[in-house]
Amino acid sequence: MVNKASNQTANIQLDNNGQLKHFLTTEGLSSEILTQILDTAESFANINDQRVKKVPLLRGKTIVNLFFEASTRTRTTFELAAKRLSADILNINISTSSTSKGETLLDTLQNIQAMQCDMFVVRHSDSGAAYFIASHVAPNISVINAGDGSHAHPTQAMLDMFTIRRNKGADFSRLRIAIVGDILHSRVARSQIHALNILNTGEVRVIAPRTLLPVDIEDMGVNIYNRLETGIKDADVVIMLRLQKERMQGAFLPSEQEYYRLYGLTSSRLKAARKDVIVMHPGPINRGVEIDSSVADGSHSVILNQVSYGISVRMAVMTMTLGSNQILPEQPHAQSPASNHGTRQS
Ligand code: CP
Repeated sequence: MVNKASNQTANIQLDNNGQLKHFLTTEGLSSEILTQILDTAESFANINDQRVKKVPLLRGKTIVNLFFEASTRTRTTFELAAKRLSADILNINISTSSTSKGETLLDTLQNIQAMQCDMFVVRHSDSGAAYFIASHVAPNISVINAGDGSHAHPTQAMLDMFTIRRNKGADFSRLRIAIVGDILHSRVARSQIHALNILNTGEVRVIAPRTLLPVDIEDMGVNIYNRLETGIKDADVVIMLRLQKERMQGAFLPSEQEYYRLYGLTSSRLKAARKDVIVMHPGPINRGVEIDSSVADGSHSVILNQVSYGISVRMAVMTMTLGSNQILPEQPHAQSPASNHGTRQS
């Protein structure tokens, strides 16, 4: 598998007119493109609240979900997003596909491509897999990275930016945002850090034991903390991450109990943050490992809102990459901070 550096990845994301063609990473994109994604998602938010949740923007398009790794939120919200845009969507079950008979990734792709599809949504355990696929597909096909190894998860990062903007307003320069936990293995954290810096966030903090920080963390434009209490002090937003045990081959931690003792977010610890702090988590949650249930289900949590917003954000990315966003309904301006940020959506 090719493991390309992210700067190279960023280049093939844009077409000759500078428009988004593939969405592989937030790194290297402009604030205009990221803001366009957020504004376009905002214009779709109303559709998701209507009785008939459908618009014809991608009618006649075929989208293929190609998930080589497990997923609940990402795969289903991509599927819902495609259906709400009136596209046809195929979910390829990798475990029962001919990859189990030894078919290569490229052969699998070429065969699905021969079925006249327009977009691949790809999740893979190898960093660089989405770039590799985008480099090999026919020119009319767009590729969306739904998570590759520990490299990038750009649509998750953008739904997180959308959640922050909905709750805290469009001016990220006023915000202090803390990302806590397994930064080393987290493609979500990498994509969030790039997006937050592109959107000119006031301060981005990462909080983790040294063993769970990547070697290049000091080059990523963040402030580093090893203690949770000091790291979340006066934070506007606290983003908790899952311990990615499936990507840990060595002894990164003494034990989960010890990790929870030092880094688990409890109601008592959260008092160090601002009174109106929002707590986020990309899911899946390990309750009692990185976060206590009283916080995950508490009044500061916007975790289920993140999931809901994922539909609008993925609708935005699909229409932008397929060049179909020019006939959108009028776009409202960024919303002011929500007064009741803890309100759950059904
Ligand atoms: N946040 C996220 O990627 O969740 P899933 O693994 O369930 O898709």
